[in-house]
Amino acid sequence: METLVVDHPLVAHKLTTLRDRRTDSPTFRRLTDELVTLLTYEATRDVRVSEVTVDTPLQPATGVQLTRPTPLVVPILRAGLGMLDGMTRLLPTAEVGFLGMARDERTLQPATYADRLPQDLSGRQCYVLDPMLATGGTLAAALKLLVDRGADHVTAICLLAAPEGLRAVEQRLTETLGEGHGATLRVVTAAVDEKLNEQGFIVPGLGDAGDRLYG
Ligand code: PRP
Repeated sequence: METLVVDHPLVAHKLTTLRDRRTDSPTFRRLTDELVTLLTYEATRDVRVSEVTVDTPLQPATGVQLTRPTPLVVPILRAGLGMLDGMTRLLPTAEVGFLGMARDERTLQPATYADRLPQDLSGRQCYVLDPMLATGGTLAAALKLLVDRGADHVTAICLLAAPEGLRAVEQRLTETLGEGHGATLRVVTAAVDEKLNEQGFIVPGLGDAGDRLYG
């Protein structure tokens, strides 16, 4: 699994304000939206396109358009919903599927409470939206579900990741999917932080993204 940390001063600036405990919910939502648009620009460098010809007012010109079916965007409820508009601003024709997952605060294990995704994702390119990759349990379960349904190229866009979580996602997917699944799996994030604390929070982090977005 490849990890891309987007190194850009505007990304770092917005992330720093998100981290600040004094940033209120309306500002947190707006900055999340803007940050996701910047991350999406990098995360979609390998979005699939097909060659087309259009007629300019002067003559035909070759260019590209998104290959159909267009990518499936999958926000993981609840916090991933705060990332959806920032993503679809750049990919307005994407299909959107919803996955509801919540982490048990004591065991830190994720449970799936909503699955509104197509059953058949054969050959589909997918983008998963989840602000925090902490222990990695949520993302590992989401990636497995998408690959089991046939997705062959999945990029997770996260605001922040913990190094332990990135390693755990890789390890769990090797255990549960095996080496030969053939899907390309990537994580694009604004930063990889120092570590997880004992409660499974990313530190220094930005706190609980779901609570800061939605209270
Ligand atoms: C948070 C976060 C991720 C998950 C990350 O969601 O938005 O989905 O935890 O943790 P993990 O990497 O240790 O699995 P939470 O379960 O708090 O639900 P919420 O989005 O409804 O707040």
